[in-house]
Amino acid sequence: MQIFLDSANFKEIEKWTAEGVIDGLTTNPSIMFKDGIYDVERGARRLCALLGERPVSVEVTTNDHEEMILQARRFARWAQNIVVKIPVINEQGESCLGVINTLNREGILVNATAILSFNQAILAAKAGATYVSIFAGRVADEGNDPAGVIRNVRQWLDAWSYSAKIIVGSIRSVMDVQSAAIAGAHIITIPPQFLSKMVDHKYTRETVSQFVSDANKALEQISQAKVAAGSGGAR
Ligand code: E4P
Repeated sequence: MQIFLDSANFKEIEKWTAEGVIDGLTTNPSIMFKDGIYDVERGARRLCALLGERPVSVEVTTNDHEEMILQARRFARWAQNIVVKIPVINEQGESCLGVINTLNREGILVNATAILSFNQAILAAKAGATYVSIFAGRVADEGNDPAGVIRNVRQWLDAWSYSAKIIVGSIRSVMDVQSAAIAGAHIITIPPQFLSKMVDHKYTRETVSQFVSDANKALEQISQAKVAAGSGGAR
């Protein structure tokens, strides 16, 4: 399973890529705005350079299908690791599957985003999306079970040999990460604050503290023995 970072915060991206656990990056207009990226092209180019070969998802910012295609073609020229995020429907509820299909036929990688149901996911996969992004937190907001949706989509993709990969996003807690992993996500995109929580554990801290303290006691014993041996020799 891969882990992507759901962020546009350069410091956090540098930190977590240096930890060796990041396989890619996802953004959206809200994340970019929150992290202070107002010039999407400049920001996206910098993010892509930071990530090297790893995929970076950047989302279109329009409801118009033609404009989505033009934006996607422009984004794809910014870097070789750009993946264009296309919402499965637009604000008016019009299907964007045709946009996904057109871009796929042009060889542009598409992350079909804002997916909240099994049916949306399988249609996006059929239209040619490389990634289908299931928004776990938002599925749960509506009283539905994200793990069930993830599990069913994964089973369907495997059963029918589709190459689309499930990205689980909209992570709201560390438990969401665990549930998505067990349910069969290929990729989970995680905001940096949850990675810090995932790696931490109070009892691990106590355990390490005990080892460090005993190691220091052992060093103290050695230095005391050396002092004793030294004063013995002088006598
Ligand atoms: C995933 O690709 C999205 O950027 C993100 O996880 C959306 O989640 P939200 O519900 O926090 O907006």
